[in-house]
Amino acid sequence: MHKIIIEGGKELSGEIKISGSKNSAVALVPAAVLCDEEVTIANVPNISDIDALDEILNHLGATVTRNDDMIKIDSSKIENKVIPEVISKKLRASYYFMGALLSKFKKVEMYFPGGCSIGARPINLHLKGFEALGAKVQDKDNMFVITADNLRGAKINLDFASVGATINIMLAAVKAEGTTVISNAAKEPHIVNVATFLNNMGAKISGAGTSEIKIVGVNHLHSCFHEVVPDYIEAGTYMILASIIGKKVTVSNIIPDHLESLISKLEDIGVPMEIGIDFIRISAPDKLMATNIKTQVYPGFPTDLQQPMATLLTQAVGKSIINETIWENRFLNLNELNKMGATTELLSNSKAVIVGPTKLHGKKVKATDLRAGASLVIAGLVADGKTTIENADYILRGYEGIVDKLTNVGAKIKLEQSNE
Ligand code: EPU
Repeated sequence: MHKIIIEGGKELSGEIKISGSKNSAVALVPAAVLCDEEVTIANVPNISDIDALDEILNHLGATVTRNDDMIKIDSSKIENKVIPEVISKKLRASYYFMGALLSKFKKVEMYFPGGCSIGARPINLHLKGFEALGAKVQDKDNMFVITADNLRGAKINLDFASVGATINIMLAAVKAEGTTVISNAAKEPHIVNVATFLNNMGAKISGAGTSEIKIVGVNHLHSCFHEVVPDYIEAGTYMILASIIGKKVTVSNIIPDHLESLISKLEDIGVPMEIGIDFIRISAPDKLMATNIKTQVYPGFPTDLQQPMATLLTQAVGKSIINETIWENRFLNLNELNKMGATTELLSNSKAVIVGPTKLHGKKVKATDLRAGASLVIAGLVADGKTTIENADYILRGYEGIVDKLTNVGAKIKLEQSNE
């Protein structure tokens, strides 16, 4: 385990270059096993979630070469082995091997995936999709055995526009016989990025980025080069930070269109922004105004930015209400913020109130999940004095080079081994 130590209260300025999207890369890497030839993926973030997927690929017998942000995956000799629970539990996205291996071998055996504890996180919609394609799903003591004689295209309506289910069904359907239509599909930028990757390999997918995705099955997927889309959640996290203590902080290598819901909220709050083709420059205003946030599926306000935003709202004048509609357990950062001097209260599992502005003071706090960790990093940088964030490994799962990126813009922050 690691801890992050921050000496807060320093104004930040300079450029923060955004890495490839975690939630896209963690789907692209398992998707690569669908190809019988080598594929190359660029702009892959160097985060521990990718290391865990690499471990699964190695276990299956793929040849993986990593060089900076580039990963080459040759799955031509992989075997269909059970993925051990110790590895699949390391991250949520291990579930993408379900769709990919089912498509490739018509059989997959793996345990329930892991991931941040932010809610119940069922996978019923993924399994319902596999069944619609003709697969049989057995759940034996938390181990899923999914088999199919043949996968056939089907019409699948998702009860909820789930990111994971949409991607997993695309993976399972890409080589199925006939046409699959997913309605009420998720529309996040990573859905489009995964569909583009599959199309670059020869798949026939249309409609990604809308609520109806059509997949015409193909027999063969070939080698390709593909790039991970910039991480709009990483970008949003640094934009929120810059809105509190930034002076001309440039968040670069981004697609500003992906951040429209955040940009609109920051405008309501009073943050001036210069928006370029692939960057946004922010200087913190003298005064931040309270606002209300309701998390929604894309293009609504992203749940993954809700916790970082909670820290900003502790510095805004007035009462803000956050309504979290995606996850049931995504307010654990508020306790820690209160320890640092914030005034927040949970009104229900899905609603919280924050009254600001309150001065934050450095304290010893604990990251309970990835974005709660990001919320505390922002709080530590804003607070006076020293903040120690235990369980920092959660943060390393999703933010490439966070310590270096923040140091480059003037933060006093370091990562250390923790004995706790
Ligand atoms: N849901 C179901 N059944 C399912 C699948 C989802 O009921 O079979 C429910 C979930 O319980 C939740 C909602 O649908 O209430 C949304 O779940 P979704 O499937 O969209 O989320 P996910 O695929 O598990 C991904 C990201 C999350 C991000 C969400 C929402 C990955 C690996 N994870 O999770 O990212 O919060 O989409 O955008 O892509 C993070 O990066 O911090 C993170 C948690």
